[in-house]
Amino acid sequence: MCKTRPDLNQYVSTPAPADNPMDSAKVALGKALFFDTRLSLDNTINCASCHKPGLAFTDGLKTSTGINGQKTDRNSPSLLNAGFLPTVMFDAHLKTLELQAIVPIQEPNEMGHNMRDLIPILRAVPEYQQAAKNIYERNFDAWVLTRSLAAFQRSLLSMSAPYDHFAKGDSSALTKKEQAGLKIFSEKLYCTECHSPPYFTNYEARNNGLYIDYGEDKGRFRIHLDSSEIGDFKVPSLRNLGHTSPYMHDGSFATIEEVIDHYAKGGAGHRLQDPVIVPFTLSSKEREALIAFLTSLTDLSFFERL
Ligand code: HEC
Ligand code: HEC
Repeated sequence: MCKTRPDLNQYVSTPAPADNPMDSAKVALGKALFFDTRLSLDNTINCASCHKPGLAFTDGLKTSTGINGQKTDRNSPSLLNAGFLPTVMFDAHLKTLELQAIVPIQEPNEMGHNMRDLIPILRAVPEYQQAAKNIYERNFDAWVLTRSLAAFQRSLLSMSAPYDHFAKGDSSALTKKEQAGLKIFSEKLYCTECHSPPYFTNYEARNNGLYIDYGEDKGRFRIHLDSSEIGDFKVPSLRNLGHTSPYMHDGSFATIEEVIDHYAKGGAGHRLQDPVIVPFTLSSKEREALIAFLTSLTDLSFFERL
């Protein structure tokens, strides 16, 4: 990012639930917990094992690796701007980051712990117990753990990409090529139907025709067993795309090129594929411009605040 441009993140705040207002001591406690391997049963895995700051809080793997080398079913999503998520997970089914935090801790192939055993371990850490008393006026418990992790994640803002400066009127923030890419993305093609600015997602669960047969992982279908939801996955944000490969819920595409090929052929043609996805052709110049725009959606300035 251009150093002379101001950090627009300072003007952005994430919505926090009434029972968990933002507070810097809480964020600091959440950050310590996020990087603490004691959250996993064998002390080898922390949240950052699968959500690495340098990779925009993804891990660069098709699917992640939990305790004892076990693999997860899905690709690790970026946590930047997670505070804006109205629902969490690829199935778009969990309502809050507070609820979500329990899942990886207790998932046998992720951190493999359970709250009953974990809480006494963390309460015995003097700094954690002291922080719980200071911030929440209670002993360190699951409430403190989940609220602090959620608060830390709400502090992970990434809304100061060149695009944001361009949208605010700085026409030099995007190169001519990136501007041409933006036009292709939002006018020639249909991408903004689902990846709409400013978050580059509408947060809905949609079927983008990744497969003609989704096999084992049928997406949101698994939550309600509603067959109209087969193949629906939460639309991911495209911010920081240059740092979040591989792509899709199963990490099946290694490059942005492969993603564009998928849409250009009009998807795989699943019977519930969203009708908006139809074939298109781009000249090699247009394709380059589109990729230039997509990779310009990068703002890793959280490093300076971390
Ligand atoms: C072993 C790897 C692994 C670990 C450890 C892990 N995660 Fe994740 N995380 C994932 C994967 C994979 C998903 C996607 C799961 C899904 O959608 O079904 C995910 C999803 C999430 C999401 C949902 C994001 C979204 O866009 O919907 C949040 C939030 C999250 N993790 C936070 C955490 C926190 C906090 C911790 C530590 C307590 C943690 N994760 C530990 C792999 C991991
Ligand atoms: C009908 C909604 C919809 C439309 C239109 C759409 N997408 Fe997507 N997009 C999705 C969904 C849903 C996913 C995630 C699918 C999955 O995880 O299996 C996705 C995933 C992606 C990803 C991978 C992101 C990641 O981090 O894994 C990229 C890149 C992407 N889309 C780009 C585009 C582009 C470029 C266009 C326009 C040509 C477009 N999309 C049009 C719904 C849509």
